[in-house]
Parts: sequence; structure tokens; C-alpha cells
Amino acid sequence: MKQIAWIALAAAVLAGAQKAGDAAVEKARAEARQVAGELGERLKGMLGKELSSGGFAGAVKVCSETALQATKEFSAQKGRYVRRVSLKNRNPENAPDAYERRKLQQFARLHTQGKLAEEYSEVTRENGKRVLHYLRPIAVQGMCLTCHGPAEKIPQEVRTTLAARYPADRAMGYAAGELRGAFSVKIALPD
Ligand code: HEC
Repeated sequence: MKQIAWIALAAAVLAGAQKAGDAAVEKARAEARQVAGELGERLKGMLGKELSSGGFAGAVKVCSETALQATKEFSAQKGRYVRRVSLKNRNPENAPDAYERRKLQQFARLHTQGKLAEEYSEVTRENGKRVLHYLRPIAVQGMCLTCHGPAEKIPQEVRTTLAARYPADRAMGYAAGELRGAFSVKIALPD
């Protein structure tokens, strides 16, 4: 009898811990979702503003000077790991790490099958610590093609700027609807 009571107590404690863990995961996921969404809006706003004032030639300069900077500042301000990553990155600093690369490859397969969800999250361990990974796929839209479409469709002025600033540019040749990359957020979880 005593033994059963102990087992029941142990089970209850475990279930409680599990629940608290789930709440922490839920909270982190909600924050990650918020952070990814906010960064997306911020970058979209910057691009829109530049396009309306300087056209594509002006926008590509500003984008190359400020997109990564704004992302880093945003990440610091939120105190969170957040970046834009792509398998075909333009800026080498936007190259995925090993985990992100695997996920982007998975996303690419799911995307061709029409099964890619709007967001993905997973709890893993990194150096023994629990972390929540959150990734939100980024799709190519029509207006992105001036800077990410087939080279021959990119205006000469834009191409010149891209060639000068990104000698290893791999972010051309896209069509609308293709998968461009993802916002990647990472949040440490309590153990
Ligand atoms: C005016 C030109 C321009 C337009 C339009 C544009 N981009 Fe970009 N994009 C760039 C430049 C320049 C970079 C590299 C920025 C940097 O140095 O971090 C970039 C980088 C990116 C990256 C980061 C990964 C990488 O390749 O380095 C993503 C993701 C991205 N763009 C998605 C988009 C999407 C989606 C759209 C359409 C909604 C879009 N871009 C429209 C110029 C543009």
C-alpha cells in the first residue's frame, strides 16, 4: 500500500514538472512567434519606405547596409537570438547553422509537396541545455524578384550594386512562391 502511495506521489510530481515545462515551452513559443513577426514587419516597413523614396536602385543599397544591422539591433534589443537564414544566402552572415540548415532542407521538401506549415518549433538540447527553436518560413513574392529573381530580370543598376557588395551572392534566380528562407529564433528554456 505504502509503495503504491509513493508511486502515485512520484507520478504526480512528474506530471506537475511536465506541466510546468509545457507552460515554459508555450511561453517561449509565444515570445518567439512575436519576435519573428515583429522583425518581419520591421524589415518589410524598411523595404517599403526605401522603395517608395528611392526605387529599387536606392533600396538595394539601403537594404544591403541596414537589413542585417537592423536585425542585429533588434536581436540585441529583445535579448534574443533572432536572424534571417537561407540555404541560398546573399550575405554570408545569413548562412544557416547546422540545425537551421537541416530544417531549411526539410522545409524545402515539404514546400515542394505543398505541406509546409506557417511555423515550426521544436525543443532540443544544446550543450546540455534545453532550447526552443522557432522557425518561420519566408516565401518569395512578386515584389522580391527585382532583387532575387532571375539575373536577366534584375535591373542593371541593382545587379551592379549586388555584384559589388556580394561577390558570393546566391540569392538570385528565384520565382514567386518559392521558399526563400526563414526567420530563426532560439530561446533557452528552464531545465
Ligand atoms: C531592393 C532589393 C531587394 C528586394 C526588393 C528584396 N530584397 Fe531580400 N535582400 C536584398 C539584399 C541586398 C539582401 C542582403 C542583405 C544583407 O546584407 O543582410 C537581402 C537579403 C534577404 C534575405 C536574407 C538571406 C540572404 O540571402 O542573405 C532574405 C530572407 C530576403 N532578402 C528575403 C526577401 C523577400 C522575401 C523579399 C520580398 C518581400 C525581398 N527579400 C526583397 C535585397 C532585396
